[in-house]
Amino acid sequence: MTQNKNIIIANWKMNHSFDATEEWLKSFNKEIEGNNNLPEIVLCPPAILIDYCDELLLGGELEILESKGNNIEELEESQIDKLATDIRKVHLGGQDCGYDEKGAFTGDIAANMLHDAGCKYVILGHSERRKNHFESDEIVQKKIVTALKNKLVPILCIGESLELREENKYLDFIKSQILSSIPKNIEIEQLIIAYEPIWSIGTGKIPSKDQISEMADFIVGEIKNNKDLKINGLRILYGGSTNSQNTAEIMSVNNVSGMLVGGASLKAKEFAQMAVLAK
Ligand code: 13P
Repeated sequence: MTQNKNIIIANWKMNHSFDATEEWLKSFNKEIEGNNNLPEIVLCPPAILIDYCDELLLGGELEILESKGNNIEELEESQIDKLATDIRKVHLGGQDCGYDEKGAFTGDIAANMLHDAGCKYVILGHSERRKNHFESDEIVQKKIVTALKNKLVPILCIGESLELREENKYLDFIKSQILSSIPKNIEIEQLIIAYEPIWSIGTGKIPSKDQISEMADFIVGEIKNNKDLKINGLRILYGGSTNSQNTAEIMSVNNVSGMLVGGASLKAKEFAQMAVLAK
């Protein structure tokens, strides 16, 4: 189980228009221009904006390739894709996907659609979906299987309520979320687990460094000690009320490889500052 490169993920939730997206990407790219010492950066916009983001990102990449002397018109599409992917600094992710490959699921989006639109990642089991769309661990597990089949890296969200924390039942709860959400006995190349305590999401309340550390160590331990879970690359993220002021402290926690950012990711400059600090 190896920990690879740090990663910072923007979860825009149900925010931003097409215009705001273009502005955001312009401003974000300006902020990180020339900086080659960055963590992996992932943007998860609403589904309707994914293809647009991919197009805007590709436009910027082609400009860079041309400025480096590549004659784009002479290249085949697959070569252009490869070159652009190699220099891509912002990767895309979905905020959810269906558990079936296709079919009569009004309003849902299939994993292969996300992949085709340029996604590498997908957030699954976010507490807002668990609460508002009644998603159980069993459903989340089916979604992880489908995401993996479609070459998407799942970002599994787990986290306890304030009540469970106060009753000191939070570790048992997290253990049950891990055991019921992660598919067993299948080889998983990469899995990201975002620990997002529900009481911290959008509230400005943040667990202490020790509390985050306890949880990150606990998650790693539970996964390592379970023979049925076969995960080659595991990364643990923290999410909930993160911003540029608390990034450095969170990133200094052992076993934390990144952050899943909500509100603060809506502002390009703020998110760029966080990305630089998350390296
Ligand atoms: P906030 O960063 O707005 O607290 O949201 C966290 C979150 O839910 C990210 O998925």
